[in-house]
Amino acid sequence: MHKIIKNENGFEYIEVKNSAAKAKIALQGAHIFEYTRQDKNNLLWLSEKSVFEQGVAIRGGIPLCWPRFGSLDESLQQHGFARVSMFKLINVNELNEFSTEVLFELRDTKESRALWNHQFILEVKMVISQTLSISMKTKNLDEKDFMITQAFHTYFSISNIQNISIKGLENKFYFDTLLDDKHKEDQAIKVEKEIDRVYIDTDDEVFLIDKDKNIKLHTLGSASTVVWNPWIEKSAKMSYMSKNAYKEFVCIESANAFDDFVMVKSKKTHTLSLTISF
Ligand code: BG6
Repeated sequence: MHKIIKNENGFEYIEVKNSAAKAKIALQGAHIFEYTRQDKNNLLWLSEKSVFEQGVAIRGGIPLCWPRFGSLDESLQQHGFARVSMFKLINVNELNEFSTEVLFELRDTKESRALWNHQFILEVKMVISQTLSISMKTKNLDEKDFMITQAFHTYFSISNIQNISIKGLENKFYFDTLLDDKHKEDQAIKVEKEIDRVYIDTDDEVFLIDKDKNIKLHTLGSASTVVWNPWIEKSAKMSYMSKNAYKEFVCIESANAFDDFVMVKSKKTHTLSLTISF
Protein backbone atom coordinates (compact mmCIF):
# COMPACT_ATOMS: atom_id res chain seq x y z
CA MET A 1 0.00 0.00 0.00
CA HIS A 2 1.21 3.52 -0.65
CA LYS A 3 -0.08 7.06 -0.65
CA ILE A 4 1.20 10.53 -1.43
CA ILE A 5 0.92 13.00 1.43
CA LYS A 6 1.27 16.77 1.15
CA ASN A 7 1.93 18.93 4.21
CA GLU A 8 0.68 22.48 4.76
CA ASN A 9 3.80 23.89 2.99
CA GLY A 10 3.01 21.81 -0.10
CA PHE A 11 5.92 19.48 0.72
CA GLU A 12 5.15 16.03 -0.69
CA TYR A 13 6.23 12.61 0.44
CA ILE A 14 5.22 9.07 -0.29
CA GLU A 15 4.31 6.69 2.49
CA VAL A 16 4.88 3.02 1.75
CA LYS A 17 3.58 0.17 3.92
CA ASN A 18 3.83 -3.56 3.47
CA SER A 19 3.88 -6.55 5.81
CA ALA A 20 7.61 -6.13 6.50
CA ALA A 21 8.16 -2.40 6.86
CA LYS A 22 6.98 1.16 6.54
CA ALA A 23 8.83 4.07 4.92
CA LYS A 24 8.40 7.76 4.18
CA ILE A 25 10.23 9.24 1.22
CA ALA A 26 10.15 12.91 0.22
CA LEU A 27 9.89 13.72 -3.50
CA GLN A 28 12.40 16.48 -2.89
CA GLY A 29 15.76 14.76 -2.99
CA ALA A 30 14.16 11.26 -3.26
CA HIS A 31 14.93 11.52 0.43
CA ILE A 32 13.91 8.64 2.69
CA PHE A 33 13.45 9.91 6.24
CA GLU A 34 11.72 6.97 7.88
CA TYR A 35 12.24 3.25 7.58
CA THR A 36 10.57 1.22 10.28
CA ARG A 37 10.34 -2.54 10.40
CA GLN A 38 7.16 -3.85 11.97
CA ASP A 39 8.85 -4.78 15.22
CA LYS A 40 11.37 -1.94 15.44
CA ASN A 41 11.81 1.86 15.70
CA ASN A 42 12.88 4.17 12.89
CA LEU A 43 16.30 2.96 11.73
CA LEU A 44 17.04 6.44 10.40
CA TRP A 45 17.64 9.41 12.64
CA LEU A 46 15.48 12.44 11.93
CA SER A 47 16.15 15.72 13.67
CA GLU A 48 13.25 17.03 15.73
CA LYS A 49 14.22 20.42 14.28
CA SER A 50 13.98 19.30 10.68
CA VAL A 51 11.69 21.42 8.56
CA PHE A 52 9.85 19.96 5.61
CA GLU A 53 10.10 22.84 3.19
CA GLN A 54 11.03 23.11 -0.45
CA GLY A 55 14.64 24.13 -0.94
CA VAL A 56 15.77 22.99 2.52
CA ALA A 57 17.45 19.60 2.91
CA ILE A 58 15.85 17.36 5.52
CA ARG A 59 18.20 16.94 8.50
CA GLY A 60 18.26 13.17 8.87
CA GLY A 61 17.28 10.08 6.92
CA ILE A 62 19.38 9.46 3.81
CA PRO A 63 20.20 12.67 1.92
CA LEU A 64 21.60 11.93 -1.52
CA CYS A 65 24.82 13.86 -2.09
CA TRP A 66 25.12 14.25 -5.86
CA PRO A 67 26.80 15.26 -8.20
CA ARG A 68 29.21 16.33 -5.51
CA PHE A 69 30.09 15.15 -2.05
CA GLY A 70 31.43 17.93 0.21
CA SER A 71 32.21 21.50 -0.71
CA LEU A 72 35.32 21.37 -2.85
CA ASP A 73 33.50 22.87 -5.84
CA GLU A 74 32.86 26.58 -5.68
CA SER A 75 30.09 26.53 -8.26
CA LEU A 76 28.06 23.86 -6.44
CA GLN A 77 26.49 23.96 -3.01
CA GLN A 78 27.80 21.61 -0.30
CA HIS A 79 26.86 18.00 -1.18
CA GLY A 80 25.44 19.03 -4.57
CA PHE A 81 21.93 19.95 -5.65
CA ALA A 82 20.14 16.56 -5.74
CA ARG A 83 19.04 16.68 -2.11
CA VAL A 84 17.08 19.89 -2.70
CA SER A 85 15.82 19.04 -6.21
CA MET A 86 12.33 17.77 -7.01
CA PHE A 87 12.45 14.22 -8.29
CA LYS A 88 9.74 12.66 -10.39
CA LEU A 89 8.06 9.61 -8.93
CA ILE A 90 8.18 7.12 -11.80
CA ASN A 91 6.71 3.98 -10.32
CA VAL A 92 5.69 2.20 -7.14
CA ASN A 93 5.79 -1.50 -7.61
CA GLU A 94 4.40 -3.85 -4.96
CA LEU A 95 6.77 -6.75 -5.60
CA ASN A 96 5.04 -8.98 -3.05
CA GLU A 97 3.40 -8.74 0.37
CA PHE A 98 6.75 -7.93 2.02
CA SER A 99 8.49 -5.81 -0.59
CA THR A 100 7.79 -2.52 -2.35
CA GLU A 101 10.00 -0.93 -4.99
CA VAL A 102 9.89 2.83 -5.50
CA LEU A 103 11.54 4.47 -8.48
CA PHE A 104 12.41 8.17 -8.83
CA GLU A 105 14.13 10.16 -11.51
CA LEU A 106 15.90 13.51 -11.75
CA ARG A 107 16.79 15.01 -15.13
CA ASP A 108 18.84 18.06 -15.96
CA THR A 109 16.97 21.35 -16.27
CA LYS A 110 17.90 24.91 -17.23
CA GLU A 111 18.55 25.56 -13.49
CA SER A 112 20.72 22.47 -13.01
CA ARG A 113 22.72 23.23 -16.19
CA ALA A 114 23.41 26.74 -14.86
CA LEU A 115 25.07 25.11 -11.83
CA TRP A 116 26.54 22.05 -13.51
CA ASN A 117 26.47 22.11 -17.27
CA HIS A 118 25.72 18.46 -18.03
CA GLN A 119 22.85 16.40 -19.36
CA PHE A 120 21.95 13.48 -17.15
CA ILE A 121 19.35 11.19 -15.70
CA LEU A 122 19.73 10.23 -12.06
CA GLU A 123 17.61 7.17 -11.30
CA VAL A 124 16.99 6.36 -7.65
CA LYS A 125 15.49 3.01 -6.72
CA MET A 126 14.50 1.93 -3.21
CA VAL A 127 13.24 -1.42 -2.07
CA ILE A 128 11.36 -1.29 1.21
CA SER A 129 11.39 -4.75 2.68
CA GLN A 130 12.93 -6.72 5.58
CA THR A 131 16.05 -4.86 4.43
CA LEU A 132 16.37 -1.38 2.99
CA SER A 133 18.00 -1.13 -0.42
CA ILE A 134 18.75 2.05 -2.27
CA SER A 135 20.60 2.72 -5.50
CA MET A 136 21.56 5.77 -7.55
CA LYS A 137 22.19 5.23 -11.23
CA THR A 138 23.88 8.13 -12.99
CA LYS A 139 23.35 8.23 -16.76
CA ASN A 140 25.57 10.53 -18.75
CA LEU A 141 23.61 11.88 -21.73
CA ASP A 142 26.42 14.27 -22.74
CA GLU A 143 28.74 13.84 -25.69
CA LYS A 144 31.62 14.11 -23.21
CA ASP A 145 32.55 12.19 -20.06
CA PHE A 146 31.74 13.87 -16.76
CA MET A 147 32.98 13.52 -13.19
CA ILE A 148 30.88 12.96 -10.09
CA THR A 149 31.42 12.47 -6.38
CA GLN A 150 28.48 11.23 -4.34
CA ALA A 151 27.19 9.62 -1.14
CA PHE A 152 24.28 8.06 0.64
CA HIS A 153 24.61 10.32 3.67
CA THR A 154 22.86 7.88 6.04
CA TYR A 155 21.97 9.16 9.52
CA PHE A 156 21.56 6.11 11.75
CA SER A 157 19.47 6.41 14.88
CA ILE A 158 21.43 4.96 17.82
CA SER A 159 20.79 4.28 21.51
CA ASN A 160 23.63 6.61 22.54
CA ILE A 161 26.87 7.61 20.84
CA GLN A 162 28.85 6.08 23.73
CA ASN A 163 27.30 2.65 23.09
CA ILE A 164 28.27 2.22 19.46
CA SER A 165 31.25 0.98 17.53
CA ILE A 166 31.86 0.79 13.80
CA LYS A 167 33.62 -2.22 12.34
CA GLY A 168 35.02 -3.01 8.92
CA LEU A 169 37.17 0.09 8.50
CA GLU A 170 40.12 -1.11 10.55
CA ASN A 171 43.49 -0.82 8.79
CA LYS A 172 42.02 1.42 6.10
CA PHE A 173 43.62 4.78 5.51
CA TYR A 174 41.36 7.71 6.24
CA PHE A 175 41.59 11.36 5.48
CA ASP A 176 40.77 13.30 8.64
CA THR A 177 39.08 16.47 7.42
CA LEU A 178 39.44 18.05 10.88
CA LEU A 179 43.22 17.64 10.91
CA ASP A 180 43.76 17.74 7.15
CA ASP A 181 45.82 14.62 7.51
CA LYS A 182 45.90 10.91 6.62
CA HIS A 183 45.80 8.14 9.27
CA LYS A 184 45.15 4.46 9.83
CA GLU A 185 43.97 2.57 12.94
CA ASP A 186 43.71 -1.12 13.68
CA GLN A 187 40.74 -0.91 16.07
CA ALA A 188 36.98 -0.63 15.56
CA ILE A 189 35.87 3.01 15.68
CA LYS A 190 34.51 4.44 18.95
CA VAL A 191 33.18 7.98 18.72
CA GLU A 192 34.36 10.06 21.69
CA LYS A 193 34.70 13.47 20.06
CA GLU A 194 33.90 15.19 16.78
CA ILE A 195 34.70 12.89 13.88
CA ASP A 196 34.75 13.70 10.16
CA ARG A 197 36.70 11.12 8.18
CA VAL A 198 36.77 9.84 4.64
CA TYR A 199 37.99 6.26 4.63
CA ILE A 200 39.72 5.26 1.41
CA ASP A 201 39.59 1.98 -0.55
CA THR A 202 36.94 0.54 1.71
CA ASP A 203 35.43 -2.92 1.42
CA ASP A 204 31.81 -3.70 0.60
CA GLU A 205 30.75 -4.34 4.20
CA VAL A 206 30.75 -2.05 7.22
CA PHE A 207 29.01 -2.79 10.53
CA LEU A 208 27.42 -0.50 13.07
CA ILE A 209 27.23 -2.25 16.43
CA ASP A 210 24.82 -0.80 18.98
CA LYS A 211 23.59 -2.05 22.35
CA ASP A 212 20.52 -3.74 20.92
CA LYS A 213 21.26 -4.08 17.21
CA ASN A 214 23.88 -5.02 14.70
CA ILE A 215 23.51 -3.21 11.40
CA LYS A 216 25.25 -4.29 8.21
CA LEU A 217 25.84 -1.90 5.32
CA HIS A 218 26.59 -3.63 2.06
CA THR A 219 27.72 -1.20 -0.62
CA LEU A 220 28.51 -1.63 -4.29
CA GLY A 221 30.01 0.92 -6.69
CA SER A 222 31.74 2.81 -3.90
CA ALA A 223 35.32 2.91 -2.72
CA SER A 224 35.10 5.40 0.15
CA THR A 225 33.16 5.56 3.40
CA VAL A 226 32.58 8.69 5.43
CA VAL A 227 32.11 8.61 9.20
CA TRP A 228 30.70 11.77 10.71
CA ASN A 229 29.42 13.00 14.05
CA PRO A 230 29.53 16.74 14.88
CA TRP A 231 29.79 16.31 18.66
CA ILE A 232 28.67 18.97 21.14
CA GLU A 233 29.80 22.36 19.85
CA LYS A 234 29.13 21.75 16.19
CA SER A 235 25.75 20.13 16.89
CA ALA A 236 24.67 23.32 18.63
CA LYS A 237 25.78 25.40 15.62
CA MET A 238 24.39 23.23 12.85
CA SER A 239 21.21 24.12 11.05
CA TYR A 240 18.09 22.15 12.05
CA MET A 241 19.89 20.28 14.82
CA SER A 242 19.58 20.55 18.59
CA LYS A 243 22.64 20.66 20.80
CA ASN A 244 22.19 17.16 22.19
CA ALA A 245 21.51 15.59 18.80
CA TYR A 246 25.08 14.31 18.52
CA LYS A 247 24.26 11.57 21.07
CA GLU A 248 21.40 10.25 18.97
CA PHE A 249 22.98 9.56 15.58
CA VAL A 250 26.04 8.66 13.62
CA CYS A 251 26.47 9.07 9.88
CA ILE A 252 28.10 6.26 7.92
CA GLU A 253 28.14 7.37 4.31
CA SER A 254 28.65 5.02 1.39
CA ALA A 255 30.50 7.31 -0.97
CA ASN A 256 32.72 8.12 -3.87
CA ALA A 257 34.42 11.12 -2.31
CA PHE A 258 37.51 13.29 -2.74
CA ASP A 259 40.12 11.40 -4.85
CA ASP A 260 37.69 8.54 -5.25
CA PHE A 261 35.65 10.40 -7.89
CA VAL A 262 33.86 8.57 -10.71
CA MET A 263 34.29 9.44 -14.38
CA VAL A 264 31.02 8.56 -16.05
CA LYS A 265 31.71 8.06 -19.72
CA SER A 266 29.55 9.68 -22.37
CA LYS A 267 26.30 7.69 -22.86
CA LYS A 268 27.27 5.30 -20.04
CA THR A 269 26.04 4.77 -16.50
CA HIS A 270 27.42 4.29 -13.01
CA THR A 271 25.49 2.77 -10.11
CA LEU A 272 26.08 3.21 -6.40
CA SER A 273 23.99 0.92 -4.22
CA LEU A 274 23.51 0.20 -0.55
CA THR A 275 21.63 -2.50 1.33
CA ILE A 276 21.10 -2.09 5.04
CA SER A 277 20.19 -5.15 7.08
CA PHE A 278 19.88 -5.80 10.79
C1 BG6 B 1 29.30 15.20 6.19
C2 BG6 B 1 30.58 15.97 6.08
O1 BG6 B 1 29.21 14.31 5.12
O2 BG6 B 1 28.19 16.10 6.13
C3 BG6 B 1 30.64 17.04 7.17
O3 BG6 B 1 31.68 15.08 6.16
C4 BG6 B 1 29.39 17.92 7.11
O4 BG6 B 1 31.81 17.82 7.00
C5 BG6 B 1 28.17 17.04 7.19
O5 BG6 B 1 29.41 18.84 8.19
C6 BG6 B 1 26.82 17.78 7.15
O6 BG6 B 1 26.72 18.55 6.01
P1 BG6 B 1 25.44 19.43 5.75
O7 BG6 B 1 25.70 20.17 4.45
O8 BG6 B 1 24.27 18.50 5.61
O9 BG6 B 1 25.27 20.35 6.92
